[in-house]
Amino acid sequence: MKIVSFNGSPRGKKSNTHVMIDALEQGLRTRTEEIHDIFLSEKEIRYCKGCHTCWTATPGVCAIDDDMKDIIGLMRDADVFIFGSPLFFNNVSGNLKVFFDRLTAAGGDPQAKQSAVSRQIVPHIVMVSNCGFPYRTQFEALSIWIGNVARMMQAPLIGEFYTTNGNALTSPADEERAPRERYLEYLERCGAELAKGFALTDESRSLLAKNILEF
Ligand SMILES: Cc1cc2nc3c(=O)[nH]c(=O)nc-3n(C[C@H](O)[C@H](O)[C@H](O)COP(=O)(O)O)c2cc1C
Repeated sequence: MKIVSFNGSPRGKKSNTHVMIDALEQGLRTRTEEIHDIFLSEKEIRYCKGCHTCWTATPGVCAIDDDMKDIIGLMRDADVFIFGSPLFFNNVSGNLKVFFDRLTAAGGDPQAKQSAVSRQIVPHIVMVSNCGFPYRTQFEALSIWIGNVARMMQAPLIGEFYTTNGNALTSPADEERAPRERYLEYLERCGAELAKGFALTDESRSLLAKNILEF
């Protein structure tokens, strides 16, 4: 099984997002060692120009020559994508959005019956996000967005992991340490379940609505 994670936090390896992805991957490692972590902030990924060259003149090939070429190559035969982002203005970060816009080259024209490259990327999707404030409703737009993206990619969305109070992940106050440990154990367990059958148990699913400090 091949897993590729995409961390859209500008804080990269020091991010709260990374702690969440890392915990899930601890569980996923029970079934595979092939895990690739991409920190988008370390990559050169320029804005999509909207030229549609990748759908028309050169199907599947973007007119921009930057790190996206290698990233799309790495994505080709993956089984699971983990998309991670801090919540920025109730949405994904600019880093992750710019990356998604450039994925257009890999997906092909959704209106075309048979694109040259479409459907080559049909993985399972996991979405991970954390935010600073204690209001969970802030994730609503992001959840609807990734649900629609997954449907468009015809890729099953097998897990959505969102938590408020994200700073407890990297800089927990004393009283936050115990819930943090329990939350990370939970994420690791979820990773192991996803590795086993691409699905969470009912018990794990019932805990998805809890934030880190409620563990
Ligand atoms: C530009 C920007 C926008 C943000 N918008 C929100 C927001 O809408 N709601 C919220 O609760 N936190 C918001 N935050 C706080 C981050 O979501 C929070 O600090 C998060 O834990 C950072 O995660 P990271 O370490 O993975 O980057 C924002 C932070 C920045 C820098």
